[in-house]
Amino acid sequence: MDLQQVKQRFGIVGSSPMLNNALETAIKVAPTDMNVLINGESGVGKESFSKIIHQLSGRKHAPFIAVNCGAIPEGTIDSELFGHEKGAFTGATDKRKGYFETVNGGTIFLDEVGELPLGTQARLLRILENGEFIKVGSSVVQKTDVRVVAATNRDLLERATNGKFREDLYYRLATVPIRVPKLSERKEDIYLLFRKFSADFSETHRSPMMELTPDAQQLLMAYPWPGNVRQLKNITEQICVLESDNLIHADTFRKYLPPVPSGLPVLLGKGDAYSDGMSERDIFYKVLIELRRDVNDLKKVVFGLLDGNAEMPSNSIPVTNSTAMKMPQDNNLLSSGAEYKHQAETPVILNPTAMDEDEPEFVDAETFHHIPIDDLSLEAQELEMIKKALTKNKGRRKKAAQDLGISERTLYRKIKQYELD
Ligand SMILES: Nc1ncnc2c1ncn2[C@@H]1O[C@H](COP(=O)(O)OP(=O)(O)OP(=O)(O)O)[C@@H](O)[C@H]1O
Ligand SMILES: [Mg+2]
Repeated sequence: MDLQQVKQRFGIVGSSPMLNNALETAIKVAPTDMNVLINGESGVGKESFSKIIHQLSGRKHAPFIAVNCGAIPEGTIDSELFGHEKGAFTGATDKRKGYFETVNGGTIFLDEVGELPLGTQARLLRILENGEFIKVGSSVVQKTDVRVVAATNRDLLERATNGKFREDLYYRLATVPIRVPKLSERKEDIYLLFRKFSADFSETHRSPMMELTPDAQQLLMAYPWPGNVRQLKNITEQICVLESDNLIHADTFRKYLPPVPSGLPVLLGKGDAYSDGMSERDIFYKVLIELRRDVNDLKKVVFGLLDGNAEMPSNSIPVTNSTAMKMPQDNNLLSSGAEYKHQAETPVILNPTAMDEDEPEFVDAETFHHIPIDDLSLEAQELEMIKKALTKNKGRRKKAAQDLGISERTLYRKIKQYELD
C-alpha cells in the first residue's frame, strides 16, 4: 500500500514532508515485527499511526487493543495487562486474563507509556525480551506473542535520567522511533485539515460548509495550535455549531482561539500578531529603540565617570590583545570590563596608532576614551532620524514621535537636547 492509499484509508489529511516521512516509516516498519515508539505532542495524531502499523502487518486479523497507561490506576494496571490469579489481592474473586494474554498473536498499543509505574515497566521489559510474563499472584511463567506499539508525548530519555523510566525499556520500545510532527511544523497542512473538518462537521451538524475570509485564513495559519490537530478539530466544530453565518471573519475566528503563553510579546487584540504579521516586528523594533536609548544613557554615565576619574595619557596605549578591553566600533555598546564578543557585522575600533600592527583589533579603555565622542554614529543617526521624521511630518511632533516609535515627551526632550527648536 502506498502513501496516498494509506492516507485515504485511514482518513489522514496532510502532505507536508515531515508528516509524509513519518507515515512512510510506519508503512515500512508495519510488516516487520519490530516494536515502534511513536513520539509527538498531544493531539498530533499518534493513535492513527498505531492503527496503520497493525492493519498493514501480518497480525491484522488478530486482535488490536489500545491501552491508555495514564488512565489506569497504579494498583490495577499489572492485573489489567498481565492478569491475576484468584485471591491475588482483595477483591480478586476470580482469575482473570490480562491484555497480553488475550491479544496473543496481535498488537497492543500502549498509549502514554511514560506513565507506567516502574514495577509494570519491569514486567513489560521481560515480555519484550522473551515473551514471558507471570500473572499477579502466580508463580507460573506464561508465554505470549504480542507486538508492542507504544506512544508518548514525553521525553522518555529525560524521564530515564530522573529515574522515572527504565532506560533499557526505552531502547527496547524504541527499536524504531517515529516522530509525528507538531501542527506548527507543517503549516501547509493546516488549511487542508480545516477544510476536511469543516466538511465533516457540516455533514454531521447539517449546516452549510464554512468559509474563511482571507484575513481569517491568515489567522488560522499564524496561530501556533498548541493542542495540534485535536485543537484544530475541536475549534472547527465549535465554530461550525455556534456561528450562524457560514462566512467566518478573522474577528469571529479570534474569539475561539485561546491566548498562547509564550516568552515573546504576542498580543491578542485587534491588529495583533496573528492578523497581519507586522505588529510583532513593530514590537521588536520598539524594544530595540528603547534598548538603544538605554544604552545611550548608560554611555553618557560611563563617559561622565571616565571624565571625572581618568587622567588622560598624552599618548594612546599600544594595543595588546590579551589586556585589551574589547569593544565594538560604534562606541555604543561599551562593554563593562567583560569581553565583548567580536562579531563579523560589528567591526571594532581600529586604534590609529596601532594601524600597522598585525592584528590591530581592539583598543583598551583609555585609548577608547581618547577617541572624540562628538561624532558617535548612533547619536548622529538618532539626530538624523529625528530631523527626517520632523521634516516628513512637517514639524508635527505627535506624528514624528509615532514614526520614531518613541513617546512625544521623549521627542520633546531630544529636540531640546539636539537644540532643534
Ligand atoms: N493528519 C490527520 N488527518 C486527519 N485527522 C487527524 C490527523 N491527525 C490527527 N487527526 C485527528 O485528530 C485527533 C487527535 O489525534 P490523536 O488522538 O491520534 O492524537 P494523539 O497524538 O494520540 O494525542 P494524545 O497524545 O493526546 O493522545 C483525532 O480525532 C484524529 O483523528
Ligand atoms: Mg492518543
